[in-house]
Amino acid sequence: MPTNKITPFLKWPGGKRWFVHNYASLLPTTFNRYIEPFLGGGSVFFHLRPKDALLGDANPDVITAYMAVKRDWKRIERSLVYRQRAHLLDDDYYYKQRGKVTEDPMDRAARMIYLNRTCFNGIYRVNLQGQFNVPRGTKNEVVMDSDDFEAIAELLQGAELRLADFEALVDEAQPGDLVFADPPYTVRHNLNGFVKYNEVLFSWADQERLAIALGRARDRGVKIVSTNANHASVRALYEGLGFEMRPLARFSSISASSSSRRQFEELVVQANLDSGAADGLVTTRTTSESRATSRARK
Ligand SMILES: C[S@@+](CC[C@H](N)C(=O)[O-])C[C@H]1O[C@@H](n2cnc3c(N)ncnc32)[C@H](O)[C@@H]1O
Repeated sequence: MPTNKITPFLKWPGGKRWFVHNYASLLPTTFNRYIEPFLGGGSVFFHLRPKDALLGDANPDVITAYMAVKRDWKRIERSLVYRQRAHLLDDDYYYKQRGKVTEDPMDRAARMIYLNRTCFNGIYRVNLQGQFNVPRGTKNEVVMDSDDFEAIAELLQGAELRLADFEALVDEAQPGDLVFADPPYTVRHNLNGFVKYNEVLFSWADQERLAIALGRARDRGVKIVSTNANHASVRALYEGLGFEMRPLARFSSISASSSSRRQFEELVVQANLDSGAADGLVTTRTTSESRATSRARK
């Protein structure tokens, strides 16, 4: 793996910067093609810096931004420098940009990166008409010291970018490829209104579809690392398919018992890894049991 660090250019909700910071050892060091079907800010992609990658997301703004940086990073950088000045000079610039509709993909990409950096908490939310509707945040840094669009563009030359549902990408994985899957965290629940937003975005049926697609990929010999919520429903889903998993603490500090319980809110699901990356996993079933379960599900 190259030693120079690349910082993701998007701050993304559910981003995995903490994961690469604390748990990089859970990722395999050798694999063929790298496949990331829920790209978002791409923390793991930028950490591993694979030469050959297939990256996808269902959000068109995300894929447009990566395609634009790949195609003409200088234009994106220039546009951000311009926007930095405008943002500091005009208090209303954020809302003017938020309300703007532009068809040009390069302009759309620069606008999206600008809004991501200056909106409230880096949240991504659109209204029913698909218009970005997050209020302005407190951060005013449009151009960042950590930006290295040239290195990002160079890395993206080896990546195919797809606006697609995750299943198509997982199904493309060949033996020896690595799939890193970081879906939105949806858990099984009763229909009690307040999670409706999540349901629309990524339903429990999508979670099941993902687990089954990952099961098929595992059975083809694909290496798998997938993060999720450490929730009983998610554990039961992956246990039923015979996956290995372990709970993860987002923060490494150990404190009082109630807060240390809350630390283990995440889960990593793995398959077909070399021994180092698999250390400390909880194996829930034997391989033959797992195959039988997976066959039964088909
Ligand atoms: C938790 S985020 C990924 C964060 C990323 N790992 C990072 O470090 O920034 C999940 C991503 O999945 C995307 N997504 C949601 N539903 C999807 C689907 N059905 N297929 C592909 N991507 C989807 C969202 O647009 C979002 O970018």
